Amino acid sequence: MTDMPPDFARKVDIRLTVNGETVEARVDAGRHLVDFLRLDLGLTGAHAGCEHGVCGACTLKVDGDIVRGCLVLAAQLDGAEVWTVEGLTDSGALADLQDAFVARNALQCGFCTPGMLVAAADLLADGGVPSRAEIREHISGNYCRCTGYEAIVDAIETVARARAGTEAAA
Ligand code: FES
Ligand code: FES
Repeated sequence: MTDMPPDFARKVDIRLTVNGETVEARVDAGRHLVDFLRLDLGLTGAHAGCEHGVCGACTLKVDGDIVRGCLVLAAQLDGAEVWTVEGLTDSGALADLQDAFVARNALQCGFCTPGMLVAAADLLADGGVPSRAEIREHISGNYCRCTGYEAIVDAIETVARARAGTEAAA
């Protein structure tokens, strides 16, 4: 027998960027990113829903890609760049989407909304105006229990059209 702790109980030192700020932390090897952000850093915007990669409530941006925060381990993120809905909000990147969600009544309880916004921003980052089918496909991994999908698609489509119009006029 050895006194070494099992792998999941080990501590790992990480240094990463969260919403543009450097964060150094010692985390449990088994700590998921969404728990690290919520419980260790107090960034509670990303929600923990199913915690099995199914519902999309924990959607975050890591190194430019959207990921499920409940499937990524914080210990894997040494050197990574993480953006949460808080940081994206502060940067203004979501402002038009947030306005459109309000205007279109695209949120009810709001539990899914942070993940929806991060997923929608990812889709629209490519530019152009996606079809409603493409919008549905892109947010198909984000569940809304309040069944707001029609309004959510309306909101995302509205922003896509507005951005395309702005770009065309620029
Ligand atoms: S909490 Fe991560 S996908 Fe549901
Ligand atoms: S607004 Fe309630 S889960 Fe989507």
